[in-house]
Amino acid sequence: MQIPQDLIETAKLKLKSVQSEAEFFQLRSQFLGKKSFVLSAFSNLKSLDPELKVAAAKELNILKAQLIKVFENSLAIIQSLDDVSALDVTLPADPYFIGAEHPISKVSDRVINYFLPLNYQVFPGNEIETDFYNFEALNFPENHPARQMHDTFYLNSNSKSEYLLRTHTSNSQIHSMLREPLPLYMLSPGRVYRCDSDTTHLPMFTQIEGLVVDQDVTFGDLKGIIINFLEYFFNEKMEVRFRPSYFPFTEPSAEVDIKFGNNGWLEVLGCGMVHPNVLKGCNIDTKKYRGFAFGMGIERLAMLYYGVEDIRDFYSSNLDFLNQFSS
Ligand code: PHE
Repeated sequence: MQIPQDLIETAKLKLKSVQSEAEFFQLRSQFLGKKSFVLSAFSNLKSLDPELKVAAAKELNILKAQLIKVFENSLAIIQSLDDVSALDVTLPADPYFIGAEHPISKVSDRVINYFLPLNYQVFPGNEIETDFYNFEALNFPENHPARQMHDTFYLNSNSKSEYLLRTHTSNSQIHSMLREPLPLYMLSPGRVYRCDSDTTHLPMFTQIEGLVVDQDVTFGDLKGIIINFLEYFFNEKMEVRFRPSYFPFTEPSAEVDIKFGNNGWLEVLGCGMVHPNVLKGCNIDTKKYRGFAFGMGIERLAMLYYGVEDIRDFYSSNLDFLNQFSS
């Protein structure tokens, strides 16, 4: 009996162009069905001499086993092809919980969303900063207490190094005034660092800085924007108090308090008219331009907005706490 040597290769080749399970089974019956060469060869064995019969049967059995294996191997591949073509991409997806946006990000976005329609640009800022941008250009005197090591993290632990972790986002004021054309309307959110830690203070927290430099801007503009922003943010009419304060880079300066629940007055941000020394240091003509700036603590706003009592909850990585902010 003549057994075709290339039967296996032919089967493999034909299997390569099979596109569906139906085609696969058709091909399989061509090679392994009742009318296939292998099966009809088995029934022809009886006409052979006994010695030849044994040898031929052995050969046929090997061939059949090989063919079965070849078809078995490609069935899995072909079935996966069928699965793909049966995939209906228009079906709604299974809900898949990928976590919750962090409350601090949500509150930052809520703040930014108030200012975007007013054409404020959003700039990222540097967390690692030099004394110049964090203090000097902001009119801090040489011996100001904020510069001291117990308040500021210097990157070299022993002596005052050139680099420090910024203590506020006000460094972005200087970067943007030196870089951007006027008029300037900017916001700069980001992390800031101070040597401080208790239930209401963290060594790292988040601020958003705002700065406007334009002709004819007044403290009245600043007041209007801040009151309007706070009413947008808390979604209600607010009692707002501007309390005279001091920052080296603004004059006059104020801290802004709101009446919130039964807590009495709570400080939510600092602000003021940009100090002429700061404008001049950034080569801005103070006869033509004036500015106002404000800076707010996002954790404080988030605590009030969500009713969170311990600031450390935001950074404890407690998923039961964080997953509450998923919607
Ligand atoms: N940088 C000040 C702080 O961290 C806040 C501030 C910003 C005050 C802008 C005035 C103007 O307390």
